[in-house]
Formats: sequence, C-alpha cells, structure tokens
Amino acid sequence: MSNSSLTPVYRPRIVSLPRVTDVATRPAVERSRREFLSWLAAGTAVAAVGAVGCTAAASGGTEEGDELLGSDDALTGTDAGVDAGGCRVTTRDATGPYYEPGAPIRAVSIAEPGEKGVPLLVEGRLLGPDCRTALKGYTLDLWQASDAGEYSPGGSDMRLRGKIVTDQFGRYSFESVLPGRYADAAGIRPAHIHVTFRSPAGNALLTSQIYFQGDPYLGKEDYCTRAGVCNSADDARHLLLQNAIVSKRVGKRSFFDAILPRA
Ligand SMILES: [Fe+2]
Repeated sequence: MSNSSLTPVYRPRIVSLPRVTDVATRPAVERSRREFLSWLAAGTAVAAVGAVGCTAAASGGTEEGDELLGSDDALTGTDAGVDAGGCRVTTRDATGPYYEPGAPIRAVSIAEPGEKGVPLLVEGRLLGPDCRTALKGYTLDLWQASDAGEYSPGGSDMRLRGKIVTDQFGRYSFESVLPGRYADAAGIRPAHIHVTFRSPAGNALLTSQIYFQGDPYLGKEDYCTRAGVCNSADDARHLLLQNAIVSKRVGKRSFFDAILPRA
C-alpha cells in the first residue's frame, strides 16, 4: 500500500497537536467518550488475557523513526503464525504518525504524577515464538494519547511515552492512564496504546497496539481497520479491565502476554 493511499486515514504528522475538542467531529467524540467512561464505570469483569493473534512480519527497523507510516503500516497477510501447540504470536498493528524516538526508560509509570485520567496498570510477559522462552532485558517502547485524546510532541515533552524493560522472567509492568479516543480526519479510533517490542540492542521486533474490551469502535467500527491500515479486530489484543487500586488511586488493571514472531 502506498503512502498516498494512507493519506486520508491519518492526519499529517504535526508537532503541535490540536485538542480533540478542536476537530470537526467534536460531538461524536464527546459522545463516544461518555460511552467509554460509562462502560468503564460498569467495571467489566476480571481478566486474564493471553497473548495472541498471529502473523506479523516483524519490522527490522531501529529506533530512529524508520517505522513511521509507510510499509510498516500497510498490514498484509494474516494469521500465519500458529504452531502445532496452538502457540500464536502477537499480531502487528499500525505504527501511526505519532511515534517519537527517544522515549525515556521508566521504572513504574509512563505517566507523570498528576496526569489526568483513570489510572491504569498493565502487567504481563514477553515471550519468544515458542510461547515459553522468557525474553529478559527486552523493551516495550510505549506511546499513547492522553485522557483527552492528545499525543505529546516528543522531544523535550515525552508525556505518556516511555520504555519499560522486562525482568529475568520476561515480565513487565507499567502504569499509565487509560487513553482517550481521538478523531482523525476520517473518523474515531478506539482507545489504544501503541507498543514496539525491542531487543536488548534496541532493534524493533514487532509493533502493535493494545485495545480494551467493550470499546464500541473496535474492528469494523474502526475506520482505520476498515481501511486495512490498523488491526483492531484481533481480540487477543483487547485487554479486559478489572477494577483495582493503582498507586493508591482507584483505577483499572489488565494483563497482556505478548509473543514475538520468529525473526
Ligand atoms: Fe494512536
């Protein structure tokens, strides 16, 4: 898929992002956010999310921005990575236009103290393509929109961006806030967190997005997925949220094990 065919889907790359209230679809966004928050308030069940999906041609890029909207965002092929034991690698998803290199390594949270929104804790493991091998010292390079649906510009402002390193058992954990939905020129995206999984040397092995169960904009309701650019239809990446105390605040907790594809 050429870049020109992607143009109507994502807004041009910009430094100063407009507030979601400035976009033309403001009424729809506000309504969708109310729906999302009321769904959260309902306290959707307890979770345990296995990793999964499939395919995912791993991008071999580095951190220096070579993954942005281009061939990496043209999702091609599906579900090729299931072995005889049912082990399925995590599917890839679009990088999108808001990745910024140089996010700092974070110990606990990718949100600064005082970040507005529902506190979120995500925990899980990063495993090799056999679904067993713990990947120690790998990095989750994370970026997301704020509660208001805004991305930080990067550079000196790395708000809601950060790298989390896996421990000796391949485990990771990070805190943040639930991301808000945002509107692009073509429509509304479901709430999501972007992630690029990196080797200890910093090489990008897989870029994907995690979503949240119950979001009404997933799958065919996501214009970006309908366009074949994003992949929000894979429910293996739809995290189930449970009520929890997150750093002494009422929030949500979820689990997600990611399985990297074979190199
Ligand atoms: Fe995004």
